[in-house]
Amino acid sequence: MTESLQALLIEIEQFGLNNDSTISDRPRRMLNITRDTGEFLSVLVRAMNARRVLEIGTSNGYSTLWLALAAKAVDGRVTTVERSDFKLALAARNFERSGLGPFIAQVHGEAGALLESSGEGSYDLVFLDSERSEYPGWWPRIKRVLRQGGLLVVDNATSHAAEVAALVAMVAADPQFTTCTVPIGNGEFMATRSPR
Ligand SMILES: C[S@@+](CC[C@H](N)C(=O)[O-])C[C@H]1O[C@@H](n2cnc3c(N)ncnc32)[C@H](O)[C@@H]1O
Repeated sequence: MTESLQALLIEIEQFGLNNDSTISDRPRRMLNITRDTGEFLSVLVRAMNARRVLEIGTSNGYSTLWLALAAKAVDGRVTTVERSDFKLALAARNFERSGLGPFIAQVHGEAGALLESSGEGSYDLVFLDSERSEYPGWWPRIKRVLRQGGLLVVDNATSHAAEVAALVAMVAADPQFTTCTVPIGNGEFMATRSPR
């Protein structure tokens, strides 16, 4: 990682922590993943050679930068969806500053609609960090867009376990998926789709 990217990530982390400690209005909070979760995602993308990554919930782009840095290393690309105009603009500025813009496709809109319009098996890795009450409804579409052998990672599996419990139960009950929860950051629920 370049010194300038490292400095930008630290700046975004500090901004998120300061912002979220003073603002209670959820749409204005950044709600970024932790740094160790970013490092974890970065290793996963590289280890899987995941060239087609989908992130649901961009916010100001902190997690996207970790994914994009790894996607760049494997000649891949991250598609990230966000419905808030305010956060989309913050993320666009961060992507421009990072130099990782060519490896990121920013989608402005509803995640459900993006999933609906995405092709079957079109992603190697899906990172889910969005409105948790929507997850059970999105699950059939997430499953459809994830390729065989692909990986789903869901943030907040331990910090908000009750809110992701319905999704976790649905995925764990699907014989095509093997699951675990990794106690890193806010807890990452992971589910890999059988290769056949
Ligand atoms: C927890 S934040 C994402 C944090 C980001 N992944 C990070 O770590 O930097 C969740 C984001 O999902 C967005 N969001 C919530 N529901 C959405 C939906 N239905 N479609 C698109 N974006 C949505 C919110 O506006 C918010 O910015």
